[in-house]
Amino acid sequence: NWPASVTIKEVGPRDGLQNEKVFVSTEDKIAWINELSGTGMKSIEITSFVNPKWIPALADAAEVAKGIERVPGIVYSALVPNRQGLERALEADVDEAAVFMSASETHNQRNINKSVSDTFPILREVAQEALSAGKSVRGYVSTVFGCPYEGAVSIDGVIRVSETLFDMGIGELSLGDTIGIANPKQVQGVLELLLKRFDAKKLALHFHDTRGTALANILVSMDMGITTFDASVGGLGGCPYAPGASGNVASEDLLYMLDAMGIQTGVNREKLLSAARFIQEKIGRALPSRNLQIGSSN
Ligand code: HMG
Ligand code: MG
Repeated sequence: NWPASVTIKEVGPRDGLQNEKVFVSTEDKIAWINELSGTGMKSIEITSFVNPKWIPALADAAEVAKGIERVPGIVYSALVPNRQGLERALEADVDEAAVFMSASETHNQRNINKSVSDTFPILREVAQEALSAGKSVRGYVSTVFGCPYEGAVSIDGVIRVSETLFDMGIGELSLGDTIGIANPKQVQGVLELLLKRFDAKKLALHFHDTRGTALANILVSMDMGITTFDASVGGLGGCPYAPGASGNVASEDLLYMLDAMGIQTGVNREKLLSAARFIQEKIGRALPSRNLQIGSSN
């Protein structure tokens, strides 16, 4: 029961770089994002307007957002944690603000320095102001399938955060497997409950591939009607406030699977591999992507 087409949302420039020790220069980030814009991706998360002391790798958010070429039809998105972040994001004229929080209390606290309840009014204000400035708003809920500090996460917490984010006016909710711990059976169970409440078209899945289960989880999600997936070129990435978290599913590994299954994405694999090679060289180590390592599109 496969969809005819799937949207891959490229999060490499944000999720991919935020945890990297190497500071990729502003110029290289811009060149890389411009290359990603030529791959056929329709949505690119380019940076993060968070406190640069927390995420130094993305301290040049404004320069990056202002420096890239904007290709018509592509949504250039950025993470926004609070009002100060929104002001910076609006000044840099991003198309979309992505607000984020966690289903588990401890991860929320470590990641954004607030309780879950205290986060709601802050994100509500960001969402309202972004919408009235004509921007779209995306929501993320992290630790949906497990928390690095608390272990199992209650589905009630996930539902509460998801409902509250939709109530703020977000257009799409991305469900984060922050530490790459989910398995297909669990994904099926969680989606069964969420799809009773939310439209599949408004949900995206965001799998980190820490334990090698991301593609299996995507397959189950597609079978249940989900058609939007976040991914990161090269398999770069991880949350700095989730110990041991590694990269997102590699965009080119996901694309290989979708292409081979005849599922349309509009993304060109050669161009994507070239963007993966570019960032691998800047990072200076082999990235986890399988398709990048075999070195061709075969
Ligand atoms: P805080 O320290 O509690 O903030 O941080 P505050 O409001 O008390 O302000 C303290 C200082 O931060 C002040 O500066 C503010 O100006 C500054 P000071 O007076 O000390 O010099 N500040 C800011 N500066 C620039 N831009 C801002 C901003 N806000 C405050 N927007 C805050 C609260 C949320 C800002 C902080 O905790 C933070 O930046 N956290 C970001 C953590 C992060 O980026 N984590 C990774 C992204 S989430 C993720 O990866 C998961 C995801 O991929 C999905 C998944 O995988 O599950 C999305
Ligand atoms: Mg992530």
